[in-house]
Amino acid sequence: MKYWEIKLVVVLIVYFCITQLGEGGKPPKLYIEPSRENCRYNETAYVQYATNKEYLNLAMMNFINLRESNTQVANLVVLFNKELNIGKFKPNAEKYNITMNGVDLLQRTKLNQPEWDDSFTKLYIFNLTQYSEIVYFDSDSLLINATTNKHELVYHPTNLDELFGLQVDIAMPRAYWIQPSSQDLYQAKLDNRANFFASHVIYARPNPRIFNEIMRYVNNPWLWSWNHRNRLFRPDDYDMEIINRYLDDQWKLNGLKIGLLNHSVYGVLSGEFKQLDHSRYFSSSPSSTRWNSGEILQKIKLIHFSNAPIPKPWLLHPDEMGPWISCNPASGSLVLVDCDLLHHWTWIHRAFFSLQQKHWIK
Ligand SMILES: *[C@@H]1O[C@H](CO)[C@@H](O)[C@H](O)[C@H]1NC(C)=O
Ligand SMILES: *[C@@H]1O[C@H](CO)[C@@H](O)[C@H](O)[C@H]1NC(C)=O
Ligand SMILES: *[C@@H]1O[C@H](CO)[C@@H](O)[C@H](O)[C@H]1NC(C)=O
Ligand SMILES: *[C@@H]1O[C@H](CO)[C@@H](O)[C@H](O)[C@H]1NC(C)=O
Ligand SMILES: *[C@@H]1O[C@H](CO)[C@@H](O)[C@H](O)[C@H]1NC(C)=O
Repeated sequence: MKYWEIKLVVVLIVYFCITQLGEGGKPPKLYIEPSRENCRYNETAYVQYATNKEYLNLAMMNFINLRESNTQVANLVVLFNKELNIGKFKPNAEKYNITMNGVDLLQRTKLNQPEWDDSFTKLYIFNLTQYSEIVYFDSDSLLINATTNKHELVYHPTNLDELFGLQVDIAMPRAYWIQPSSQDLYQAKLDNRANFFASHVIYARPNPRIFNEIMRYVNNPWLWSWNHRNRLFRPDDYDMEIINRYLDDQWKLNGLKIGLLNHSVYGVLSGEFKQLDHSRYFSSSPSSTRWNSGEILQKIKLIHFSNAPIPKPWLLHPDEMGPWISCNPASGSLVLVDCDLLHHWTWIHRAFFSLQQKHWIK
């Protein structure tokens, strides 16, 4: 062999060893029910982001709701596209003490789905080091406290204050809806390395190291990828994939304390209420568990609107659901569910609708 060939072989062997290092072995702890200590609520924040007026309206509605729940958290922060004119929202921002923080959108160029592109903006939460802890949630969500009164469900505002003080660096719920049933959470994590966590709600302790490492992936994926061959950058990677890849690395290296939020409380998609099969939702509890919409709804605190193919709730009046969803087989509706599910589905949308009527700014 020529000298340059030997050099090439050595380089390839070294590269192979480095990329294989740490690929096996037993992964460290996942904090399934993280412990909690007191926190200084005056230094914590809830954060949402909005890249257009619709989402700004949604974010404001959720924050007004949080104030009405008497949250102890001092800072309610909307990260908004700083090119938006937010004049109409200023009176509510003042009245409810909501911090409007204009940012440049974090985008990656050369992608063909600009709507999703914007979702990188949520990665800013890791750089908000003026706050000790953050609870982030997507603004197309609804905070719910459903209680029963004479067999009727009643809606109240609520907050997620109990998440502050978690003894982890970051915690997210499981993306339960895309995972095959598996009772064992460690095994489920191993089986779903690239899509285990859902990113529509995130507890985080902001940390510039996390932010910079994630941004390195967003902006310069090839630099990141050279020693992560199993987690190569793909053009269809969005915030959820990016955070998952990053956390998977950190999990293996024991670099961060990673917690799991209970998806039944914080991670439910509204689409679960138009689903006939709930086995994925139940994957971490005994398979004999029966789906009882009313009971399940009363345990949910945050629901994320993910209704496809039914339009988002702010585009659909609750009285005009008929062509989309029904429990009458003769109705010709697009989605057919049982009447109990439909009742609770409609309840969620009515709760949203009455908030929208109060707070939506045209
Ligand atoms: C929060 O409260 C603590 C204790 O009362 C105080 O020491 C700290 O300076 C406060 N922080 C902010 C940002 O106001
Ligand atoms: C608004 O919130 C900030 C903390 O973000 C707090 O320092 C300030 O006192 C609050 N103002 C009012 C009027 O409540
Ligand atoms: C992240 O935060 C640091 C410190 O506040 C700031 O200097 C930097 O510009 C921020 N990065 C981005 C992309 O906003
Ligand atoms: C839900 O609302 C009821 C009635 O206002 C209240 O007593 C209860 O503490 C609330 N629960 C949560 C989790 O917000
Ligand atoms: C998650 O929350 C549900 C609903 O409150 C509860 O039944 C379940 O036991 C919780 N799971 C864990 C691991 O705490």
